[in-house]
Amino acid sequence: MPSWRLSHLSTDCSSVPATAGCCLVFAGIDATADRIVNALRDCTPAVFRVGLGDTYSYDVHGAVIDVTKSDHYQRLLNDLKRDGCAIDCIVHAFNLDGSSEESWSYDPAAMDKSLYSVLYLVQALGDRMPGHPITLNLLARHVALVLDGDKVCPERAVLTGISRVIPHEFANVTCRVLDVGDQATRPGRVGSWEEDIARDVVSESMDAQVAWRGSQRWIRIFEQVTPGNGTAPSVLRERGVYFVTGGLGGIGMAIAEHLAQAVQARLVLVSRRVMPPRANWASIIDAATDNELCTLIRRIERMETLGAEVLLACADIADQDQVREATLAAVGRFGAIHGVIHAAGVAGDSMITTKTRSSVAAVLRPKVDGTVELARAMQVFEPEFFVLCSSMSAVNGGVGQYDYAAANAFQDAFAVRMDGVGRTHYVSIGWAAWKEVGMAANMRLPAYLLAEKEQQLKSAIGTDEGVRALMAILADPLPHWIVSPRDLAGTLEAARPNSGLTGAVSRPLTPTNVQPRQELTTTYIEPDNQIEEVLVGVWQELLSIDRVGVADNFFELGGDSILIIRLHTMMRNQLPELMREVPLKLLFEHPTVAGIGAVLAERYEALHYAGEVKKMRETTLIMEVGEI
Ligand SMILES: NC(=O)c1ccc[n+]([C@@H]2O[C@H](COP(=O)([O-])OP(=O)(O)OC[C@H]3O[C@@H](n4cnc5c(N)ncnc54)[C@H](OP(=O)(O)O)[C@@H]3O)[C@@H](O)[C@H]2O)c1
Repeated sequence: MPSWRLSHLSTDCSSVPATAGCCLVFAGIDATADRIVNALRDCTPAVFRVGLGDTYSYDVHGAVIDVTKSDHYQRLLNDLKRDGCAIDCIVHAFNLDGSSEESWSYDPAAMDKSLYSVLYLVQALGDRMPGHPITLNLLARHVALVLDGDKVCPERAVLTGISRVIPHEFANVTCRVLDVGDQATRPGRVGSWEEDIARDVVSESMDAQVAWRGSQRWIRIFEQVTPGNGTAPSVLRERGVYFVTGGLGGIGMAIAEHLAQAVQARLVLVSRRVMPPRANWASIIDAATDNELCTLIRRIERMETLGAEVLLACADIADQDQVREATLAAVGRFGAIHGVIHAAGVAGDSMITTKTRSSVAAVLRPKVDGTVELARAMQVFEPEFFVLCSSMSAVNGGVGQYDYAAANAFQDAFAVRMDGVGRTHYVSIGWAAWKEVGMAANMRLPAYLLAEKEQQLKSAIGTDEGVRALMAILADPLPHWIVSPRDLAGTLEAARPNSGLTGAVSRPLTPTNVQPRQELTTTYIEPDNQIEEVLVGVWQELLSIDRVGVADNFFELGGDSILIIRLHTMMRNQLPELMREVPLKLLFEHPTVAGIGAVLAERYEALHYAGEVKKMRETTLIMEVGEI
């Protein structure tokens, strides 16, 4: 379970390196922000403040942007670069406002200031300042429940999820969340509360999630605990009515099967999929042309032979009318709803550089809008429990997971916020990957990543283990859990993206551990132009292999999805001009020196022979369109 530990910050402003550049602060009109900006002015050589407005404006004293316009972030970084402002620290403080009001209701516009604002900012950093070391501090209020009485705002809690993704994709960006509570009165202490926060911002602390409460500094940790003490009685009712979203998906159906077996439950299985009428099931099974459908039908029929009753409801869980219709159908048939398992979800799989507002919204839909609509529709029925199937990605991030990690962090915070408000016990479970069923097990990957996937799934959650964990968690009053079959601290440490250009490495690199090139499916081909020579050098250094052929596949050579991020950074350092605006995704698509070398050679041609930057931009655009 997530927990917090008091921690001491030793840095003082005088220890900040004299060479430190400009600190870029995004802050609206807010008294707390004003005080922190003033304190930062004492800690850093220069502070450039960016406020909120409807139109873009910029001068040497500050700028204003419309938070929803991605091009405003691009213009801002361009203007700063033109004026020689070298940024090495960013404070994103658009989420410092607001009071700790008792009630909360979802405000989609609040996501503009958190999730989308940071997305556009990071995309602009990738475009305008590739490879430049930056510390990005996400400074906000109401992110986490640290002390009794803290009010969590799920739209802001998304910052914790995205902060764990950004450094995975941008090895040059260190990202931290600083959740600040109310200003403290500090009898007997030197320095002000805002000075403490400013010191934390400029410190080289690696604490990924910090919370300031009064004059106390807390850092997030995870405690290993056995839910319900392992002995608490089951909360399931004999023939209870359980509403399972994602009920035809991997985890949803596995849980439904358990409920059928354990308590002969009356089940409502919700999905967007339109199932054929029951009258046709026998002939579908006889025809045996659609294996997946036949398996679904057999599994539903098996639940019914175990004594369960199954109602199939076709609904998009994020659509208010459809959710209401599904809940009314459930109550119409079974008379009540005793528990909800919200297991609807879609995976996110694209890099930050290629994300758009609509692609992000699609991943948020079942977990953010869906959670909100489902909870609203359930209020009147007061189920005993409402389980949110979240993911560990909310705390450990991962490549390609910007939207997914945010959506899961939202669910975690939603459970924390809603639990204890009414009669329903809300609980969010951050699952690690399940090995036999569901989106991780079924994920389609290119051939070169299959071995890595198999390896990862070996230590994933088995279906029985997952169901047992759920039952134990349901018997416990806490609202947020993480279920990991591996030691969580070790898993988080291994997944921890390091800061700066040392990047994320999954093994130590020393000149003494250089290995000879193993037998591969490709024969060795030596580099035949300068670009390939540079690339071969980088690959050899990174992988500690004595010679890499230009046709050798990075993943067959032992590279993995973490090492490829380091490769991207190293290539950017070696070939800054050619690698400018080359997204990481391109390396996944061209995992050989010859492949990526050809792409870079084309850029070289455009840059040097056609001569104009314009042509280079066109080439880049064509490549980017190709990727989408
Ligand atoms: N499997 C894992 O390893 C794993 C790990 C961590 C967390 N989780 C979480 O656990 C939950 C279940 O995952 P899973 O592995 O069972 O995934 P899954 O097999 O893909 O099932 C998810 C189901 O959600 C349904 N769905 C998606 N959007 C929906 C919407 N707007 N309205 C209604 N239904 C919707 C989909 O069915 P339709 O397309 O028919 O609607 C799909 O069958 C997800 O929230 C996932 O994030 C899974």
